[in-house]
Order: sequence, then structure tokens, then C-alpha cells
Amino acid sequence: DCISSSSLIKLPGLIDVHVHVREPGATHKEDWDSCTSAALAGGITTILAMPNTQPPLTSDINYSITHELASSKARCDFGLFAGASSFNATKVPAISSKVAGLKMYLNDTFTTLKLNDVTVWMEHFENWPKHVPICVHAEQQTVAAVLWLAESYKRSVHFCHILLIRAAKDRGLPITCEVAPHHLFLTAEHKNPLGQNFNKVCPSLATQSDQDALWENMDIIDCFATDHAPHTIEEKSSGKVPPGLPGLETMLPLLLTAVTQGRLTIQDIVLRLHTNPCKIFGIPPKPDHETYIEVDMKETWVIPQHGFTKCGWNPFAGRSVTGRVTCVFLRGEVAYIDGKVLVEPGFGQDVFNKVAPMDEGEGGVSLSDGLGFPPPVTRYPGLPVPFP
Ligand code: NCD
Ligand code: ZN
Ligand code: ZN
Ligand code: ZN
Repeated sequence: DCISSSSLIKLPGLIDVHVHVREPGATHKEDWDSCTSAALAGGITTILAMPNTQPPLTSDINYSITHELASSKARCDFGLFAGASSFNATKVPAISSKVAGLKMYLNDTFTTLKLNDVTVWMEHFENWPKHVPICVHAEQQTVAAVLWLAESYKRSVHFCHILLIRAAKDRGLPITCEVAPHHLFLTAEHKNPLGQNFNKVCPSLATQSDQDALWENMDIIDCFATDHAPHTIEEKSSGKVPPGLPGLETMLPLLLTAVTQGRLTIQDIVLRLHTNPCKIFGIPPKPDHETYIEVDMKETWVIPQHGFTKCGWNPFAGRSVTGRVTCVFLRGEVAYIDGKVLVEPGFGQDVFNKVAPMDEGEGGVSLSDGLGFPPPVTRYPGLPVPFP
């Protein structure tokens, strides 16, 4: 058990709704074991995994491949996103009950799933069930197009990465959004000792004034999400630099440092890394006395390049932070304590598709997938909010 001291506080297990696990397809960057170890070290007990893998999670077959890998290797709990492709708009809804949502890539980034054709966007909006989230990677003009789609199809949309969507929220659109720690704590002027390639991410790091605007508009940010996007040092040093930064191990310490500095409260963190993620994605709640983390609010340490992530570097390396994760309890087990992960690969469970007594309760949805998997657990009826 954890040793108690006055500077230790308990928080609920955190939920990161935007993680690139890289398996299947690029396990030299990260895999389900290393990624979920990094999550636990960062105080995160559930990750939602993005579908831009190889193969991408765009079909029932590819869902099974990833679900099997994740179920046998994950050390923390997880959910999987389905990916929208140019060809799967009518078929992908078949897996909607066992995924976190549908991810649509609408701008250039590190993905094979970019959708260029607006008629394809519309097909997805038409076919994907309204009670399961649609999440978009949208930048600039694309944002306006998606707001128009949300309004036309009368459904909620979750915007990944940063956005200035105050106007849309003020109009009452059922829009939610997330912000990544690198957009809150790094600017484009940041001098990375490994080289400026190591700043490359989509969307790009902000200017100081854009970053200030994010902090000033904290009230409309629904979630913090790492967008943990590991690429190796070799890849980031190469001629064709892939965009993306790792973040699982350092998001919470950076946020806790902001609490110590008086820029944020603990409630701000719990709302955006536990309460809202549960609501937006309908994640079944776990009893808080079985799944929680302890952090030492007073401990100051310097972020190292190396951690549990396979990519071997950290964009915040060398920065001094105050606040450290001392232990993590997941479903009653000590999953992580003082730098060590104690739970084995396979301990992690799929929060949207695990063996559970069937209960097709009010507001729940369940479909048997015909592939021999147990029926998915009833989706917890939270958001997406009904369109006003
Ligand atoms: C992400 C990746 O590497 O998978 N990269 C990034 O710069 N954010 C893709 C994405 O989330 O857009
Ligand atoms: Zn993205
Ligand atoms: Zn991402
Ligand atoms: Zn809770």
C-alpha cells in the first residue's frame, strides 16, 4: 500500500481519450505493452486508442485483430476507435457498439485514412449511430465544414486537438473538444535540444498568443488528451519527419505543476480527465475506491528523455515539474507503484467490449458481432448530448 503523507492526494483513475498505440503495424515505435505501461506511469488507467494503425481499424476483421492484440497485451483498460475510410461508411456502423467512436481524419496528418471527399464525410454522418461519438481531426476551414455537418445532421461531434470553437458552443451546438498538453505547455519557439524536427506535430505547436488564448478559454475545453503519438528518434531525425509527440508519462505532472502555480485547480483536471471523458464516450464508471491514483503534490523532479514509451525521447525532457504519480490502483490491484508497473500484460480490459452479464437496459445498445466475441457490455448512457 502507499505510504501516506500530507502532500499525497487521491484522484480518480484518469482517462486519456486520444492515444496512438501503434500496434498493429509499427511496434518499433510502441506496442500495447509499452504504451499501457507508459499510461499507468502517467496516472492513466484507461486509454482510447486511435485507428490509424497498419492495418487501420476500419472493418470488423481489423477490429478483431486489434482487439485480440490489445486484450492479450494491455496492462491498463482501453477502448478502440473505428476509423472512417472512403469505402466503409455503410459497413463500419456494424462495430459501433464495441468501439469508443468513429474517428474521421479530415486534414493531412500521420494517417492513411484522410478523407478528401465531402460526400464521404456526409455518408459517415448519415450512417454512424447518433448515440456513439464521431471524433474529427479538423483544422482551419475543415472545422467550419464539420460544424455545418453537425448542425445539418443534428448530432454531436468531438473535436480532437485544439480548436477555437467558442462561437459554436455559444450557439448551443453539441460540440465537445480536447486539448493536448503540448499545446498548453510548448510553443513553436521551444528549442528542443534534439532539434526542431522534434517539435513537429499536427496541429502545429502554437504561438505564445494562441497558447495564452487556450488558457484564457479553459472553460470551453472539455478534455485534456495526450495525443500520445510516438515516433522514434531516428524517424524524427530523418528527412521526412513524421508529425507527433509522446505524452502519456508527462501530461499529469505538467498539469499538477500548473496547479501548484495557481493556473489550474485539481477539479479542472478531474473534470477533463475523468468526468467529461466518461460522459462524452459513455465509458462505464468504475468504483472510485477500486480505481484511483495517488500523487505527491510536493515532489519536484526533472523529466527524463527515457520512460516506458519505446520512442526513447520526450518533448519536455529537462523540464522541472512538481507533482509525481506515486501509485495507481486499477480495479483493486496495485497496477503501478514508485516507478514500477506491477500488473501483467492482459490485465487491461476493453471498456466497450468485455465479458459482462447481458443487460439490455434502457439507453443501452448491444449487438453480437457473429465472430465469437462475447456480446459487448451495455453502453453507459452519458453524452453524446441530444441535439437541442
Ligand atoms: C498523429 C500520429 O502520429 O499518429 N500525429 C500527430 O501529429 N498528432 C496523428 C494525429 O493525431 O493527427
Ligand atoms: Zn489528429
Ligand atoms: Zn492523434
Ligand atoms: Zn468517478
